[in-house]
Amino acid sequence: MRIDVITLFPELVQSVAQSGVTAKAAESGLLELHYWNPRDYTNDKHRTVDDRPYGGGPGMVMKYEPLQQALVAAKAQNPKARSVYLSPQGKPLQQSMLQAASDAGGLLLLAGRYEGIDQRVIDEHVDEEWSLGDYVISGGELAAMVVIDGITRLLPGALGHQESAQQDSFSNVEKWLDCPHYTRPEVINNHSNELKVPEVLLQGNHQAIEEWRRQQMLGNTWLKRPDLLDKTTLKESDRALLDDFINEYNNNNKT
Ligand SMILES: C[S@@+](CC[C@H](N)C(=O)[O-])C[C@H]1O[C@@H](n2cnc3c(N)ncnc32)[C@H](O)[C@@H]1O
Repeated sequence: MRIDVITLFPELVQSVAQSGVTAKAAESGLLELHYWNPRDYTNDKHRTVDDRPYGGGPGMVMKYEPLQQALVAAKAQNPKARSVYLSPQGKPLQQSMLQAASDAGGLLLLAGRYEGIDQRVIDEHVDEEWSLGDYVISGGELAAMVVIDGITRLLPGALGHQESAQQDSFSNVEKWLDCPHYTRPEVINNHSNELKVPEVLLQGNHQAIEEWRRQQMLGNTWLKRPDLLDKTTLKESDRALLDDFINEYNNNNKT
């Protein structure tokens, strides 16, 4: 998968491919990252990429020409890629958007700085705007890194166990949250408290483990993100699992 990034701070974005899953994907050629710095498309001695906003007001705006030229150069090398401007005004990022981008095989990310970029770049050269959420950060680089990481782990072969990505929150068939996970040791002595791994996970009964995990996914979603359950009608067996979870939760949390 080829991802081109237009940024004033390529070294910042490059760090996403220096460790973990993304580093491995880059080393194996599964992920190909290319950077385009708008400063390389300026003609003045100060390599100016920003200017004052028309109409006055605080801050600076990224200029049209260097961005346009960087976009044209990047698109020439990654012609099928959709261009995405990372922006707080964009569509809030969802797992399904990362999945679609990962399936598409090419992407062009544009990171803004200052007060943002000249609107004409968006109007003429941007296919979509994506947001990390309803808050503002100083630049699109961190958002680009989030997108690159999220896409890379979906590429076939990027994870040791590809099915683990299919069990993740929002990625499983039902789009529920993931279940809790435990590893050794079996018991942790925390002062007078013994913290134990749930018994069912130790008994090797795969059907019982599957059922427990499904119930925990449902319960977790009900507790933390009930809005995700509002969108579906549960089948009878899942309704029963969730009802049992809710009863147990209510019994344990009686005041
Ligand atoms: C300080 S912000 C500009 C914010 C802009 N004036 C606005 O209010 O919409 C500078 C750059 O950071 C990036 N950015 C800021 N918040 C973001 C978010 N929530 N998601 C994605 N990118 C963001 C964008 O690339 C933006 O051009």
